[in-house]
Amino acid sequence: VHGTLIHSLSPTSLQVLPNSLITISSTGTILSLQPNISPSDIPAILAQQNIQNIPLLTLSHGQFLIPGFVDTHNHAPQWMQRGLGQGMHILDWLDGITFPNEAKFADPAHAEKVYEKLVRGMLRQGVTTASYYASLHGEATRVLASTCFKAGQRALIGKCNMDRNSPAFYCEASAEESIRETRACIRHIRGIDPEGVLIRPVLTPRFAISCTAELLRSLGDMAREDEGSLAIQTHFNEAAQEINATLSLFPEFSNEADLYSSFGLLTQRSILAHCTIMTEYEIGKLRELGCGVAHCPTANMTVGGGFMAAPVKEFLRRGVGVGLGTDSGGGYSSSMVNAMRHALVASYARDALGEMETGGGEALSLEEVFSMATRGGAKVVGLGERVGAFAVGMEFDALVIDLRDEVVGGVNVPLEEDDAPARMLEKFVMTGDDRNIVRVYVKGRVVHGEGCSNGGIGIS
Ligand code: GUN
Ligand code: FE
Repeated sequence: VHGTLIHSLSPTSLQVLPNSLITISSTGTILSLQPNISPSDIPAILAQQNIQNIPLLTLSHGQFLIPGFVDTHNHAPQWMQRGLGQGMHILDWLDGITFPNEAKFADPAHAEKVYEKLVRGMLRQGVTTASYYASLHGEATRVLASTCFKAGQRALIGKCNMDRNSPAFYCEASAEESIRETRACIRHIRGIDPEGVLIRPVLTPRFAISCTAELLRSLGDMAREDEGSLAIQTHFNEAAQEINATLSLFPEFSNEADLYSSFGLLTQRSILAHCTIMTEYEIGKLRELGCGVAHCPTANMTVGGGFMAAPVKEFLRRGVGVGLGTDSGGGYSSSMVNAMRHALVASYARDALGEMETGGGEALSLEEVFSMATRGGAKVVGLGERVGAFAVGMEFDALVIDLRDEVVGGVNVPLEEDDAPARMLEKFVMTGDDRNIVRVYVKGRVVHGEGCSNGGIGIS
């Protein structure tokens, strides 16, 4: 590709690489990256690298390349319930809307139908990596894994563990059954993709309310047995109603950080969703244990229990890794562009509410939310070495962004002739949508947009 590349250098800074030539191997690894190359020099440079007969994509003003988005928290079966029950408190929303919807995934045919739509929809929105919670069903979870792999989406996939405090029609019979099914899902995922090139398993205790101590302990043991290679995801300090219920079920603990860590569930591979109500002590503990935060601004402002703006600035200040999650179902939108926007809006609100003393303080910057949507998210899901930025040796997960009027009919991003790249990115984040994401690559392969083949598996 020749054109403008924009990526994050750090959690707080952007790098714009104008007129860059980036070459990608047939297996999707970035071979070279050279900024400030004039088009007339390209043939000589390619010849020097012994590159022949390759398709070259040339970008013009209004087009640029960014790393693919990483959705660090998404409930795959909730694809069908987006938009419902916004404004409800978390436990009421789970009982009234979510559990009846997720129970339908007992039928693998239903899972197949929905998960094809989901994965196609996510790729279309530029989500090249997602960390998915499936339903509690083993078979439907395996369907999700196969669907991601076939469509070429990078994903962490976890069967939900939940063996109590859920309705009889949507609850596992015992901790043993839950662990047995979890192991079968891990075997399936590793059978399809032994190296974890595209898909990987993730342990997914839904949250402590829906898991017995025996189940939490067995999952912590599994994480340890696996030589620490298994990722773990759960909901953490999401809302007052949830925290109160959790601590009354586990009265021996006074906070969730102590609770989850006592079961071995807080590790460098833990992805903790929400983290809205946090004490100094708990932030320190996440930092010390190396856990990552999946910040879900949309869900935090709609479903859960009132408008919650997580102390993201404080996480970043203290060196806790943060990615963005759509939590779609919980949040009504599955768009990472919306998630970036909502992260900004929530931080403006937190700042205005005068949370300086409690660690809120200062609003997030565009650079910070862009980093959380790409490089920061990749780190949180354990893929920071591979994706999230452009560098030689990293894998090419990228989005071609196109703001030109002829592409979107001039209805969203107000592109001007003299807009510099950083300004184009800002306009895209604040006013763009999936219409501006015209091509999506995962590991060098086009998985959405012009030139998409998807290996002939029928998703385009
Ligand atoms: N806590 C437990 N399950 C869920 C869920 O599905 N969504 C959200 N937002 N919180 C949860
Ligand atoms: Fe969630």
